[in-house]
Amino acid sequence: MAAERIGILTGGGDCPGLNAVIRAVVKSATRLGWETLGIHGGFEGLLDPITFRKLDHREMGGLLTAGGTVLGTSNRGRFAAKTGHGEQRSIPTDILDEAKRNCELLGLRALICVGGDGSLTIAQQLFEHGIPVVGVPKTIDNDLEATVMTFGFDSAVACATDALDRLHTTAASHNRVMVLEVMGRYAGWIAAHAGIAGGGDIILIPEIEFNYDAICHKIAEREAMGRQFTLVVVAEGAKPKGGVFVTQGANESNREARLGGIGAIVAAELGRRTGKETRVVVLGHLQRGGGPTTFDRLLCTRFGARAVKMVQEGKFGYMVALRPPDTTAVPLTEAIGHLRTVPIDGDIVQTARMLGISFGDE
Ligand code: F6P
Repeated sequence: MAAERIGILTGGGDCPGLNAVIRAVVKSATRLGWETLGIHGGFEGLLDPITFRKLDHREMGGLLTAGGTVLGTSNRGRFAAKTGHGEQRSIPTDILDEAKRNCELLGLRALICVGGDGSLTIAQQLFEHGIPVVGVPKTIDNDLEATVMTFGFDSAVACATDALDRLHTTAASHNRVMVLEVMGRYAGWIAAHAGIAGGGDIILIPEIEFNYDAICHKIAEREAMGRQFTLVVVAEGAKPKGGVFVTQGANESNREARLGGIGAIVAAELGRRTGKETRVVVLGHLQRGGGPTTFDRLLCTRFGARAVKMVQEGKFGYMVALRPPDTTAVPLTEAIGHLRTVPIDGDIVQTARMLGISFGDE
């Protein structure tokens, strides 16, 4: 066995940049003379039969730009620590015991867990059970506390912005109302950032409940100014005043509710009220697929290298965070359990309002 050995796994939904983090971890660890074991299939890979393989730095070629995760991932199963509508659950002790035993058996000095709120909630429970864990913040939703940004978010925003650029030309050609539904769960970060960057006219986010009168008023205002088309960006977690989240399928145990479908409802209602031709596009997993942007490549590389440094320093139970201009280590407990949402009086919302973008509330 090598003198030192660390493990790495990727948990939750995939996201651009996971492979870039793996690459940065393996390259940094190799330079310290450490061996890196890749645990397969997320946290489930820690249970019998343990599924892992040694990651060689020579295999890392091409991973900086590759989408998905070479380690596979899972956001359900025996470890699920978040269920239903963001509720927390304690992982059964026998599962934690087995994971700990297997980490010891593998001789891991530390386990690097790359994931969002759900996966890092699992990581915290592993840490409390005695596994030396370091977290890396991943999610296109950008809804984790304690870091200025998660990796994957910039790539998702780039994808949604590109979609808006394309919808712009077709909307203008046909004088249509185009509704783009984007991901983000209970936070409107993707919708707000892409909506502004992509020249959206109306942005609906979970943080600000909307009303149809206000949206129709904005469409009419644009028409009065000679603008016969309108771009509406809807976050999957947006809802009308007093309304409920729109979800897909039945709630499954051991996994979070699947949001989606509000875009079609908004489009139908706007078509009915305005008489304008209205179309809806659900961007879906296109936002999660493919490689990371330049920004995310760099962020992932910084996060991966910093995670290895944290192992060196014995900073267990901590997560890498971006605090510009540096990366830093923050306790996992500061990051999990309370989602970071778009501040409604923050700069992003104020900027949009200054430009005349409507949030469907006034
Ligand atoms: O958390 C990332 C995310 O892409 C959310 O934006 C979205 O609601 C969810 O995952 C989709 O999950 P799934 O891939 O399981 O449908």
